[in-house]
Amino acid sequence: MDNKVNAVKLLVTGGAGYIGSHTVASLLTNGHDVTILDDLSNSTASSIRGIEQVSGRSPHLVVGDIRDGECLDRILRGGDFGGVLHFAGLKAVGESVRHPARYYSVNVGGSIELLAAMRRHNVRRLVFSSSATVYDTEAEMPLQESSPSGHPGHAYGRSKQMVEQILTDEVGSDPSLAVAVLRYFNPVGAHPEAALGEAPTGTPNNLVPYIAQVAAGIRPYLEVYGGDYPTPDGTGMRDYVHVMDLARGHVLALDFLCAHGGLHKWNLGAGRAYSVLEVVKAFELARGQQIPYRITGRRPGDAASYWADVGKAARELRWTPQYTLEDMVRHAWAWQQVLARRV
Ligand code: NAD
Ligand code: WQD
Repeated sequence: MDNKVNAVKLLVTGGAGYIGSHTVASLLTNGHDVTILDDLSNSTASSIRGIEQVSGRSPHLVVGDIRDGECLDRILRGGDFGGVLHFAGLKAVGESVRHPARYYSVNVGGSIELLAAMRRHNVRRLVFSSSATVYDTEAEMPLQESSPSGHPGHAYGRSKQMVEQILTDEVGSDPSLAVAVLRYFNPVGAHPEAALGEAPTGTPNNLVPYIAQVAAGIRPYLEVYGGDYPTPDGTGMRDYVHVMDLARGHVLALDFLCAHGGLHKWNLGAGRAYSVLEVVKAFELARGQQIPYRITGRRPGDAASYWADVGKAARELRWTPQYTLEDMVRHAWAWQQVLARRV
């Protein structure tokens, strides 16, 4: 699946986390050398073992905060870093409403600190984890990279918009900086060998991890947030994309930056939407058992339906998603069983 490219020494912030760990495994498989900087605030070192298991190679882990300039200096002083993949950040929308300053500090302040360190050490390539949350979800579908920006009602979404703006300004002031902004839609699933996956602490915020916990008997039923949307079955529709496809997208985006430089934005999604009930049905098939659910009120701030146009990533990166919804839920369920054995 992965192709060998010229090896690059890379810093991956947040590389112990959900999307970062899958990407680090892909980068190592592709011959790159990886140093992870992660404060382990939303992950554990066990993901390093998973990375080693699937890639047969070891990343170097530095436990630290991206806002710590001296820590960044100690890592980058080693020289020779060909780029940074920047995943580190806080991502819970509801929490960002309760603690906006914390979100701006880590997501925006952390990115600024990282950019400053990259400048000090002449590291000139950055792949940034952005989100579909930057779009106006009332815009015409599917969402293209040029679609209008929205006004997210939370600090999380605004922090992603701010970092995108900062990156645009930085490249404007210094064209030697090459930046890929990757806008993920709804990342789900886990590594097919069930060695890596998402390990939410507390109650999951997102649909698929929640369903997985219901399937495992940890929670009694799924609350389906709204059954009266203007969609075919009345439930919300999203563009779910397998985390393995996302990981491959990062490797290709890095290759692109190495070849072309510049500032680029790419949607990474499946290019189609599934309803909550379609995801539930797919999970029932994977699990071989019914998932109890109750339709409740809409979750404040939720859009009815949105999905990506992934044509730009297909044309420019030669990236097309390869995993189906069935794969996403099957792998999520296999991973949930691994998590259950760990407790
Ligand atoms: P995650 O929480 O699993 O990974 C983030 C990692 O960053 C964690 O390992 C955490 O310990 C680390 N981290 C947090 N604050 C840090 C700090 N101050 N210093 C160093 N490390 C820190 O999240 P994820 O789902 O893998 O998301 C990765 C990135 O992708 C985030 O920037 C997120 O906003 C973005 N994103 C995620 C989704 C999604 O639904 N998962 C969607 C769109 C965009
Ligand atoms: C998916 C669908 C819910 C949970 C969030 C962030 C977004 C991005 C991805 C980071 C919706 C419904 C959910 C539940 C439900 N993250 N649902 N019952 O809200 O599309 O996107 O994660 O950038 O910024 O907002 O994802 O998984 O929470 O919801 O019915 O218990 O499932 O209403 O239709 P969302 P989600």
